[in-house]
Amino acid sequence: MVSFQSSKFSWSLVAIVGSLLVVVSVVHFFLTPIFPSSLDYFSARFPVRPSIGGESHESLDLNIDFDARFPEDSHGAVTYRGAPWKPEIGKWLSGCDSVSKEIDIVESIGGRSCKNDCSGRGVCNKDRGQCRCFHGYSGEGCSENLQLDCNLPSSPENPYGPWLVSTCPAYCDKTRAMCFCGEGTKYPYRPVAEACGFRLNTPSEPGGPKIADWSKDDLENVYTTNGSRLGWCNVDPAEAYADKVKFKEECDCKYDGRWGRFCETPSECSCINQCSGNGYCRGGACQCDRGWYGIDCSIPSVSSAIKEWPLWLRPSTVEVPDKATLDNDFAGLKAIVKKKRPLIYVYDLPPDFNSHLLEGRHFRFECVNRIYTEKNRTLWTSQLYGSQMALYESLLASSYRTLNGEEADYFFVPVLDSCIITRADDAPHISLREHMGLRSSLALDFYKKAYEYIAHHYPYWNHTSGRDHIWFFAWDEGACYAPKEIWNSMMLVHWGNTNTKHNHSTTAYWGDIWDSIPSARRGNHPCFDPEKDLVLPAWKKPEPGAIWLKLWDRPLKKRTTLFYFNGNLGPAYQNGRPEDTYSMGIRQKLAAEFGSTPNKKGKLGRQNTSNVTVTPLRSSNYFEELASSIFCGVLPGDGWSGRMEDSILQGCVPVIIQDGIFLPYENILNYRSFAVRITEDEIPNLVKILQGINETQVESMLANVRQIWQRFLYLDSILLEANRQRSLFSDEEDWSVEFSKLGEDDVFATFIQLLHYKLHNDPWRRHLNQKKNYGLPKSCLRRTS
Ligand SMILES: *[C@@H]1O[C@H](CO)[C@@H](O)[C@H](O)[C@H]1NC(C)=O
Ligand SMILES: *[C@@H]1O[C@H](CO)[C@@H](O)[C@H](O)[C@H]1NC(C)=O
Ligand SMILES: *[C@@H]1O[C@H](CO)[C@@H](O)[C@H](O)[C@H]1NC(C)=O
Ligand SMILES: *[C@@H]1O[C@H](CO)[C@@H](O)[C@H](O)[C@H]1NC(C)=O
Ligand SMILES: *[C@@H]1O[C@H](CO)[C@@H](O)[C@H](O)[C@H]1NC(C)=O
Ligand SMILES: *[C@@H]1O[C@H](CO)[C@@H](O)[C@H](O)[C@H]1NC(C)=O
Ligand SMILES: *[C@@H]1O[C@H](CO)[C@@H](O)[C@H](O)[C@H]1NC(C)=O
Repeated sequence: MVSFQSSKFSWSLVAIVGSLLVVVSVVHFFLTPIFPSSLDYFSARFPVRPSIGGESHESLDLNIDFDARFPEDSHGAVTYRGAPWKPEIGKWLSGCDSVSKEIDIVESIGGRSCKNDCSGRGVCNKDRGQCRCFHGYSGEGCSENLQLDCNLPSSPENPYGPWLVSTCPAYCDKTRAMCFCGEGTKYPYRPVAEACGFRLNTPSEPGGPKIADWSKDDLENVYTTNGSRLGWCNVDPAEAYADKVKFKEECDCKYDGRWGRFCETPSECSCINQCSGNGYCRGGACQCDRGWYGIDCSIPSVSSAIKEWPLWLRPSTVEVPDKATLDNDFAGLKAIVKKKRPLIYVYDLPPDFNSHLLEGRHFRFECVNRIYTEKNRTLWTSQLYGSQMALYESLLASSYRTLNGEEADYFFVPVLDSCIITRADDAPHISLREHMGLRSSLALDFYKKAYEYIAHHYPYWNHTSGRDHIWFFAWDEGACYAPKEIWNSMMLVHWGNTNTKHNHSTTAYWGDIWDSIPSARRGNHPCFDPEKDLVLPAWKKPEPGAIWLKLWDRPLKKRTTLFYFNGNLGPAYQNGRPEDTYSMGIRQKLAAEFGSTPNKKGKLGRQNTSNVTVTPLRSSNYFEELASSIFCGVLPGDGWSGRMEDSILQGCVPVIIQDGIFLPYENILNYRSFAVRITEDEIPNLVKILQGINETQVESMLANVRQIWQRFLYLDSILLEANRQRSLFSDEEDWSVEFSKLGEDDVFATFIQLLHYKLHNDPWRRHLNQKKNYGLPKSCLRRTS
């Protein structure tokens, strides 16, 4: 129930109330766009005929002869916005994507309230009238206190239970299963993480590692107040820095949100979109300001001011019901927003699938693409899995986002397996004990539960059996361990294994192996189906230096190395991975032929030659070395390895050696025009094959790499962060300066372009034909039915 005079309504709404269901003033908030104009993904490239009335697109027809108008080049590619696409895709995008027009979409702005206003322990989803509870709370109205233990059940041998990351001899914060000093100490919120609270055995040999004894606590050294002895929970940081008191060296500050040796400085935590400026990032979950909801506080309710609505809800026309209607069951307002398809609905899933996984992190670097320094400046991580967070953030802030599930073309289900997998066995509530010790099996369960949740609580899954749903599996084995129930959907992965050659688990890391997951749970699907799925690039830390130096643009004459590969080469080398199955044996074969660094026996590869580098030694000049090479190896590690991204971002022509396994965009871009694929059996002929590629071809491939390199950057997400930092600080950091200069299509733009193509051409979606207004000429609609 909404009372009108109360502060729940913004001035802008109050001003226009009174008339019966009138359509009131369009909100004119065309603020400066967030993106440089060239990131306006679908800016028209040729003139669009003016429309007369809402249905004019029906009569508008371009009569495009796609084949004649968009011919293929010598590689069989059709260029659209610089990228060489597979012909059918490039033709459609060139002809249709750029003439797509805005249509009117009704977005409902929620007005429902939640039980007890979520008891101050959660955020109310005003559309559904349901709470998203903070970590440790549950139930309708978040009234239930969960008891999330730090320790597994104890036994005489293991008074603190068998070891887990969360095992705690001190105060356990049972809302998050994390260990702290606790009440009665001088610094109750100082973490007692990992070995800190346990006794350490003196090393068996001098200089050897100290081993923690997880059955014997060391409370003496944690709780002591006597400054002449080792302490932790009562040690004053200033005195410790001045060497006036001793502290236990094994204790440190691992949790997110605090810096300094003693966690004495509070800092910003990592939250999705940093709560969009409408909330406080609480550990990893957003505590939204009044009137806002959603994982990133990006959704306004009837009590937020229209002038503060996000860009993706503008420009809009708001229908305001009269007071009589409002006084009854007031479910919300309708806003008519001009939007272009494809429209994407992002589920606001329960936080167990996303923000709780962020908030309960025991190591701040885990599963995020950035953390914040003690000054609250961005510190980008090298987490390859950071792509999952980046794409999610872009979707939430995108103009293609809709709150209207009936109009949506796609549904994104945000389960963060990058966090689930890294956090497996972190705490009793995410234990692997019922999963045969397999992280893959634990992750499968999360996806299955998310499926059950959406199929039960929303109508959209059942409409299409999930064929218009999208899931992201960022971990090494991609969607191999997707539960059978969701295989109809589109999978976003980094590992495009079609299982045609490698029909089993390809990782050497046992915890990720999925072969033993019973088919009753996994079904019998391949890991990747090029018909419906998409491989996306992995996250690469923004390197302002590489952009400034334009490594991607290095010309052929400055590329002196013929072939370059740098990475773990297996057991024949110092510190090499011992398993034969690592890299499916591919790197080992390459090294045996072309190794350019002596192995343990002092041997080089059989075909060692001066301008071929195959080495396990990572130099500090890694990017420079890639940029000085013509061809760069793309070989698997445990699953994917991020080498495709390294190669393309440094302007090197990728040489792919992994049979039957797709790389980013391989089913949509024309790979022959910028990459070389050789089969695993051809490794001995690698150099001969590369030398056989003539200069004209090499120049042409390098030129195409230069055209597409930005499609391997999560630029959209980086610029969202740049904007947030700009609003907080007057000075701009190097990464922000350099990346803000870039303006071509990035990962997110490419993804949207593909979704637009699929909307009308995907055989997988053939039966989903719905009578919708697409804002496209007839010749662009449904070519598959
Ligand atoms: C503090 O510890 C030192 C060394 O163990 C000991 O000599 C001293 O008596 C202790 N002081 C107090 C007040 O307990
Ligand atoms: C950084 O953010 C945290 C959390 O919002 C705040 O407590 C702290 O004062 C901020 N630090 C600086 C230097 O602004
Ligand atoms: C969708 O279908 C499943 C299985 O038939 C059913 O259990 C579920 O209740 C349906 N969901 C909705 C929202 O109707
Ligand atoms: C997997 O491939 C091997 C040969 O590489 C073959 O012997 C086996 O039958 C295949 N298994 C399945 C389930 O396709
Ligand atoms: C690499 O070395 C071989 C043999 O010395 C030579 O034929 C070839 O042109 C060289 N290639 C490059 C790119 O330098
Ligand atoms: C390099 O390869 C040649 C054969 O081309 C071989 O005779 C030589 O032993 C190799 N060098 C080393 C150090 O292994
Ligand atoms: C280079 O190779 C391509 C493809 O094999 C061929 O069509 C072209 O004629 C060659 N160009 C030169 C200059 O040899």
